[in-house]
Amino acid sequence: MGDTASELAALREQLRAWGRAYYQEDQPTVPDAEYDAAMQRLLDIEQAHPELVTADSPSQRVGAAPLEKFEQVEHRVPMLSLDNAFSAEDFEDFDQRIRDRLDGAAVSYWAEPKLDGIAVSLRYEKGQLIQAATRGDGSTGEDITANVRTIESVPLRLSGTGFPDELEIRGEVFMPRSGFEGLNAQARARGEKVFVNPRNAAAGSLRQLDPKVTARRPLEFTAYSTGYVDGGELPGTQSEVMTQLAEWGVPVSQYAAVLENSAACEAYYQDLAAQRDGLPFDIDGIVYKANAIAQQRELGFVSRAPRWAIARKFPAQEQTTRLLAVEFQVGRTGAITPVARLEPVFVGGVTVSNATLHNADEVERLDVRIGDTVIVRRAGDVIPQIVGVVSERRPESTEPVRFPDHCPACGSEIERVEGEAVQRCVGGLGCPAQQMAGLRHFVSRKAMDIDGLGDKLIEQLVDRRFLSDLADIYTLDKTQWLRLDRMGEKSVDKLLAALEASKSTTLAKFIYALGIREVGEATARQLAEHFGNLDALIHADSEALEAVPDVGPVVAAHIRHFFHESRNISTIRRLLEQGIHWPEATTSATGPLEGQTWVVTGKLETMSRDEAEAQLRALGARTAGSVSKKTTTLVAGPGAGSKLKKAQTLDIPVIDEATLLEQLQRWH
Ligand code: IVH
Repeated sequence: MGDTASELAALREQLRAWGRAYYQEDQPTVPDAEYDAAMQRLLDIEQAHPELVTADSPSQRVGAAPLEKFEQVEHRVPMLSLDNAFSAEDFEDFDQRIRDRLDGAAVSYWAEPKLDGIAVSLRYEKGQLIQAATRGDGSTGEDITANVRTIESVPLRLSGTGFPDELEIRGEVFMPRSGFEGLNAQARARGEKVFVNPRNAAAGSLRQLDPKVTARRPLEFTAYSTGYVDGGELPGTQSEVMTQLAEWGVPVSQYAAVLENSAACEAYYQDLAAQRDGLPFDIDGIVYKANAIAQQRELGFVSRAPRWAIARKFPAQEQTTRLLAVEFQVGRTGAITPVARLEPVFVGGVTVSNATLHNADEVERLDVRIGDTVIVRRAGDVIPQIVGVVSERRPESTEPVRFPDHCPACGSEIERVEGEAVQRCVGGLGCPAQQMAGLRHFVSRKAMDIDGLGDKLIEQLVDRRFLSDLADIYTLDKTQWLRLDRMGEKSVDKLLAALEASKSTTLAKFIYALGIREVGEATARQLAEHFGNLDALIHADSEALEAVPDVGPVVAAHIRHFFHESRNISTIRRLLEQGIHWPEATTSATGPLEGQTWVVTGKLETMSRDEAEAQLRALGARTAGSVSKKTTTLVAGPGAGSKLKKAQTLDIPVIDEATLLEQLQRWH
């Protein structure tokens, strides 16, 4: 038995260390298979000796056995809800009200984003997580301990010292947008049900009777308050309590602030409203709390909501409107996307009149008909989507959405590849819609960057059959350009100059401009860096291609397919004959930042992230999209989220834009 106990202890310690390296530092120290084998061994031993299972064993992250039902949990301190403020005025009233109640005392506020997820209460005894419960009706919730244990950011035990013997920590379990998009993409690919929004996805994931299902869902936790406390004391202000929780290893908001008056509260609201779309998670407002706990006690609460806190709401990210029609767009690769035309509606801060319906499966899944009242969601930078139909409001006469059986642009057949949800026009570059989309991509800013060649011109070029091949845009002469609508001497001269200027480019931009399927800007850059010249890329086999970071078998196949097409090779040859050129690859970038890896995140004021990255690369740095141990410096603008958090845990230097500008000047 002694042996078993010590093997268990060693296994758990090993798995914790590997887990930290994997989840917190993003630097796996062992192959997955080895981790999995150790975990399996732990699970086997624990199954044979259930009496030795501990609540903080790494096995609990995998998800315990399924439950029959959730047990009820009485909250020892009720879980409250919040009153809402919908305007600056509502907030002023709230502020006035509480200052009156406090006999005119000054009130400073603790402000933080209102996360759109599920409220949970975590009970720690002597620093060990022993129970997790939902809010329920505020006084009785459900026991979801086994599920919550699978959430990586929930500490199974508190770190450090000084925590009360009994401590309830309250906060929100939520699903970051990227995790939500990924989960739905998987579901769509498998033809399964998708979630309407991250909040529903988080709720559905937490209410699973099988914790193993929860374990596979990308959930996160952020604390915002405490509940029952016994055998110890917490500090006297909300801000100090949150700092204390963070020291015990509990995730807290990175965006919180202490604000001294209602003007500062308004400024904070405006600032977060501006950042909202770029945040890695959904928020539906700002929560303000009187910062002094003594004031909170004095103010108390009315029925279900505290007097000392309020939620100032943002414009809703979901709205209902009517579906007027469905049109079909043909993309660069022939993919046909049903696009919903909507009665204009204000959602997520903008007026939306178009939304994507993704593909035929999605239309069928939603069972959406023209004339229906639909739910439109617009959150983050994602294009607006239709996420549901209000079936009770279906009018008598609706029309089903009819998919075309031939390409709406060129009349070619539409094919559907086995196992893929998309339908494609087989017309290739003979299809004007594909030609147009390809051309739009070719001239776009991140590709050949040809100024002045807008959609209207592209449409005319294609409609009038001026081009038999992409390269023809460089061979059209002045008289031909002059024949197009609204093209005078001056604009033609400008356009010809822009065309000429675009010929001097980079290999990465040229590769990106070709519009190879699945080869975005970042992949194009990696291909350029890896192969150094176009010939090597054209002749690379799958193995060589897959040696490039980010290139897997699918992308490699698309690249090979593209360069196998003799038509594409001839277009490339003709483009090069027109004088498109780029600097020869220098074998390794030189400059003061050689050997360094930089990451830029958040919003910058004086330049775009792309520009900042380009400048850093020009100085010899590599730029990456995620923070890891290999990161030299993180440049973080407002709105920086998980990358900033990660850099902080890894002790990676973080600088702001002003410092970056200073340093760039010095290096240049
Ligand atoms: S404070 C008295 N802070 O909003 C404490 N709640 O509408 C009440 N929520 O049930 C909660 N982010 O699920 C608080 N930073 C935050 C929050 C937050 C999200 C949720 C929470 C609560 C609901 C009330």
